Amino acid sequence: MLCSIATHLALILTLLVTVVRPADSWMTTYQSNFQLACPAGQTVRRLESFFGVGQYDRVWNMSCSILPNWVDLSSCEWSGAQNNYNEVLIFQCPSDYIVTGIASTYDRSKLDRIWSFQCCNPQDYVTHECMYTSFINTYGDVMNYRVPNDHVLRGVESIYDQNRRDRLYKFDICKLAPVDFNNHVIVG
Ligand SMILES: *[C@@H]1O[C@H](CO)[C@@H](O)[C@H](O)[C@H]1NC(C)=O
Repeated sequence: MLCSIATHLALILTLLVTVVRPADSWMTTYQSNFQLACPAGQTVRRLESFFGVGQYDRVWNMSCSILPNWVDLSSCEWSGAQNNYNEVLIFQCPSDYIVTGIASTYDRSKLDRIWSFQCCNPQDYVTHECMYTSFINTYGDVMNYRVPNDHVLRGVESIYDQNRRDRLYKFDICKLAPVDFNNHVIVG
């Protein structure tokens, strides 16, 4: 009898842990600073995050992919912080550069993050047909965004909510077009 109750409890506990556990592992931890950079020659393809209610913060996963047509990436540079705590973030890589890394600093008194980005030059290509997504998450909820295969990430915008202590994110994505030696876009 006792044994069977224990077995049942163990089973219930296992089920609870399985259901409640948000996700197994993330590349970042709550309330700490991080820098995630794509391997050389790759650009950001997917961004996922999970909001920890008690932590007033998100944990993040980023994955990257090579560019179509083996476009080469060069002249990579970090932007430095692009927003103030609790304020709007509006970032776009300069020129025709695209995003290849993301770094963030968390402030425990502000319960928010500032963001910086690594941008690289897709050699002999320019960004075109750029567009903004709508906000792709809701406050306190899981975020899972994958840049479509024929697009690349050029920028990020984000707003902060003082009550929820969380941010919404939208992305600036573009297609890449080759340019000729005179820097003219090659159409078609
Ligand atoms: C985050 O990425 C790591 C490494 O690719 C992976 O093992 C892990 O399952 C991912 N976590 C989530 C929640 O997707």
